[in-house]
Amino acid sequence: MSNPFTPTFGIVPPYLAGREVFLLEMQRALQDGPGNPNLSTLLIGPRGSGKTALLSCVAEEALQSGWIVARTVAADGMLEDILQSALKNAASFLHQRTKKKVKSVSVGQVLGIEWALEPAPATNWRTRITALLDELKQHDIGLLITVDEVRADLPEMIQLASVYQLLLTEGAKISLIMAGLPAQVSDLLEDKQVSFLRRCSRHYLGSISDTEISVAFEKTIAASGKSISGEALKIATKTAGGYAYMMQLTGFYIWEEAATHSIISKKDAERGMIRAEDAFRSGVLLSTVRELSKGDVAFLRAMLPDEDYSILPDIAARLKKSSNYISTYKRRLLMAGVIEEGAGKTLSISMPMLREYLEQQNA
Ligand SMILES: Nc1ncnc2c1ncn2[C@@H]1O[C@H](COP(=O)(O)OP(=O)(O)OP(=O)(O)O)[C@@H](O)[C@H]1O
Ligand SMILES: [Mg+2]
Repeated sequence: MSNPFTPTFGIVPPYLAGREVFLLEMQRALQDGPGNPNLSTLLIGPRGSGKTALLSCVAEEALQSGWIVARTVAADGMLEDILQSALKNAASFLHQRTKKKVKSVSVGQVLGIEWALEPAPATNWRTRITALLDELKQHDIGLLITVDEVRADLPEMIQLASVYQLLLTEGAKISLIMAGLPAQVSDLLEDKQVSFLRRCSRHYLGSISDTEISVAFEKTIAASGKSISGEALKIATKTAGGYAYMMQLTGFYIWEEAATHSIISKKDAERGMIRAEDAFRSGVLLSTVRELSKGDVAFLRAMLPDEDYSILPDIAARLKKSSNYISTYKRRLLMAGVIEEGAGKTLSISMPMLREYLEQQNA
């Protein structure tokens, strides 16, 4: 029985915790086609919250609904990359559908040799993608573009957004799903050239509920031929802390501890938990804390006296500063995915183990 957990970035786990509603909405959007607002969506979440995995699932959903998909990461050359993979996927999709040789269908012509071999100047990108979309439209095929790791400082990202907006208004069957870290997305949204992006649906990948984490643990384990005791499941769920990557780390080490038996026990969970926490500490926590400024850390420390959640005026009083002054730190920490804002503007530390880590340093 091989270990079913996937503590590796970018890998889609066998069961996604807490994404059912979003995926259903996306499924509906892809079936509805043009006009559904969720076809233009921004996925926003901290490191390891599951953005790349979710993009993969949406791409899979799109394929099932008869769309073709072009996936890319925001980087120089991304526009050409999108076009080439869209052309390639369109050709093989039509080939499968029509059972004709690619050469004989019109996408073959769209794939004009001069395009395929020589990247044309970027200004031509709109004409080329429009030609492809026109072609796809005749077969009622939509094009989903996914862009991972969005960045605001990239001219091609801006160009993509503006061309996409035009294509939408022309009624193209097209969808753009982007994913990025909160700080990058927020910079992108501030860019005046692409104010249209502010109207995209936004989906935040915050903490996943314990119930959903627990169900995903049980399903993953059961599908791979083991089971887990109630006590062990409680420990595992608590260790995961509502965080996708930590769930996979926890599951992975708990499974390793139970290598020789079929029911994962409390003892396996306790041992696995220690290994998962060590891995998380060295792999995520230390680098996250290192990237924070002194002011950010002081803000976090001022949250420690509150057991579950804090409010800004209390934090300000502890730091002997005005609420206005410290709101910069609040914004920075929210963007880093380290804290979360709840009902009534309450703030809580959302990164697993961070509170314990800071408390130990304080001691
Ligand atoms: N919904 C989920 N439930 C459980 N595990 C998940 C879920 N989504 C992703 N994972 C797991 O969490 C880890 C991180 O996922 P992923 O690489 O998609 O995160 P990310 O947000 O793209 O991270 P980064 O910002 O570093 O690119 C992976 O191990 C993946 O298998
Ligand atoms: Mg990613």
